[in-house]
Amino acid sequence: MTDVYSIPAEIAKSALIDQQKYTEWYDRSIKDPEGFWAEQGKRLDWIKPYTKVKDVSFTGDVHIRWFHDGTLNVAANCLDRHLATRGDQTAIIWEGDDPSESAHITYRDLHERVCRLANAMTDLGVKKGERVTIYLPMIPEAAVAMLACARIGAIHSVVFGGFSPDSLGGRIQDCDSSLLITADEGLRGGRKVPLKANADKALESCGSVKNVIVVKRTGGDVAMSAGRDHWYHDLVEKAAPTHVPAEIDAEDPLFILYTSGSTGKPKGVLHTSGGYLVYAAITHQYVFDYHDGDVYWCTADVGWVTGHSYIVYGPLANGATTLMFEGVPNYPTVSRFWEVIDKHKVNIFYTAPTAIRALMREGEAPVKRTSRASLRLLGSVGEPINPEAWTWYHRVVGDDRCPIVDTWWQTETGGILITPLPGATKLKPGSATLPFFGVKPVMVDAEGKILEGAVEGNLCIAESWPGQMRTVYGDHERFIQTYFSTYKGMYFTGDGARRDEDGYYWITGRVDDVINVSGHRMGTAEVESALVAHPKVAEAAVVGYPHEIKGQGIYAYVTLVADEEPTEELRKELVNWVRKEIGPIASPDLIQWSPGLPKTRSGKIMRRILRKIAENQFDALGDTSTLADPTVVEDLIDNRMNRV
Ligand code: PRX
Repeated sequence: MTDVYSIPAEIAKSALIDQQKYTEWYDRSIKDPEGFWAEQGKRLDWIKPYTKVKDVSFTGDVHIRWFHDGTLNVAANCLDRHLATRGDQTAIIWEGDDPSESAHITYRDLHERVCRLANAMTDLGVKKGERVTIYLPMIPEAAVAMLACARIGAIHSVVFGGFSPDSLGGRIQDCDSSLLITADEGLRGGRKVPLKANADKALESCGSVKNVIVVKRTGGDVAMSAGRDHWYHDLVEKAAPTHVPAEIDAEDPLFILYTSGSTGKPKGVLHTSGGYLVYAAITHQYVFDYHDGDVYWCTADVGWVTGHSYIVYGPLANGATTLMFEGVPNYPTVSRFWEVIDKHKVNIFYTAPTAIRALMREGEAPVKRTSRASLRLLGSVGEPINPEAWTWYHRVVGDDRCPIVDTWWQTETGGILITPLPGATKLKPGSATLPFFGVKPVMVDAEGKILEGAVEGNLCIAESWPGQMRTVYGDHERFIQTYFSTYKGMYFTGDGARRDEDGYYWITGRVDDVINVSGHRMGTAEVESALVAHPKVAEAAVVGYPHEIKGQGIYAYVTLVADEEPTEELRKELVNWVRKEIGPIASPDLIQWSPGLPKTRSGKIMRRILRKIAENQFDALGDTSTLADPTVVEDLIDNRMNRV
């Protein structure tokens, strides 16, 4: 029997959405989506109000448009409209890697910083629709840069600071950015990250970039290329402090964010302006039950969609106080998260299961020596949270008082789709529970048949919601193929799920060749192509396997070229090679030397078998009759058993 956690009286007293309101609003949002979203769209300030709400087709050429005859400016919605009422309120609390460094930035101050950078970018010739790549650490300038792009209608592409020069270069090339915004160095867990040096390497292969703006974060010694590179502080000092926001169509792009798929290189997920912001704002308000004055902290990096929607756009659109953390959970000590909560009196805390599992290993004492009395609500995102981690989070971190919102969504969805609402939803540890307003999940079997009731199947979404991605940048056909061709007329999430007798959803994980390592999405094909780029590697196959802290680990089967001997040294070399090619998050956890890989007679690698071997499930290999050479599998099993 699953435990069910009821809604605490304290939460129920002040919650924005209670059980009855959830049911009423949800029913309405499904029966009359246009009416529901026409009302919700009013939470933004529009320059030209929309008269049209929704124009969507999930078949044929697939088009998704929301509020499409309206115009607005996203940055003005996040800043200017708050100035009269909350200009002196803190917009961003910045907590540095070093606990002695922090800052409060008011809405007025943030507005001025964004205006200055918007002017500086315009002076450099950046125009509406141009792409700007942002490769920054977790410093306020990251939010300023995103909002400055939004202000002039440039499209930002934020690249996580942990990515390698090659990964950065590929992302710049794919969208032809004309401007790169970076920093001299980042700072994480007391260690420096050579961002500018990485950027310089990446730019060797990126002809499109005409200008680089460099934020001085550490003061480290970096090369500046005359004519191309500019110090951020010089530019903004010279720039005017006011700026008239550009009038942007609701369906003009706001940003591109690269994410891994099951095949080929990462795709540029494109989000547009009006619908995205409406959705980020409504979900931030209701999922986190955000009340004026609350201090809200999402621990994600702005390099991921969680940072976009729930550090920057959602909270700022709602006039919230959002905390931005430069550091890591275990520096200088494993109490850091809880100390930051006490220091800034955080009310709402949103993090990833992998962090919870890592901190859980340290025991209760590092948590219990802090107060955490300010906490009201906890959140989880990025991967399934195992019930053991959930109950620890609830009992130890939340002192049994704070509900946990386990929020399921994706880069593609722009915002949270399946989630509890704190005042409306009873909780079951490990379940993301129920759909948000306007979201219609459906379960389908492998043939595409819609399944009713309590079932397990593939998770699709039947109707559009305003925050949905609009296309893959520069490749609409890939968009159609990836998300709308498996099941006709529906958005296919790539996730499997179970729906229980109460209609609650339990996400079981990816059903495609994407793995989820510490909440980061990784395409197995990407890691494979990095491995085979090594001169000593003939062939590689990568799968996920259960990992205690990371959720999934990266398991690589590697076949060496003839005459190469497998050695411990080469194993280390290959791990470092992948780190260098993609970034540390892609490091293989286990490499198994594989003289051969299991293939069908037509030469296709049978990954299902490799997955089972990596999971130590030798009895569950399934049908092996199509294997070209069954002895390959026996060898692999022998090796796996000897090693782990
Ligand atoms: O498999 C699901 C998992 O993360 C994938 C999306 O990854 P990404 O686009 O990087 O976005 C992560 C942050 C939104 C999903 O397809 N996932 C995300 N949240 C959950 C989850 N799996 C289970 N439970 C969640 N709460």
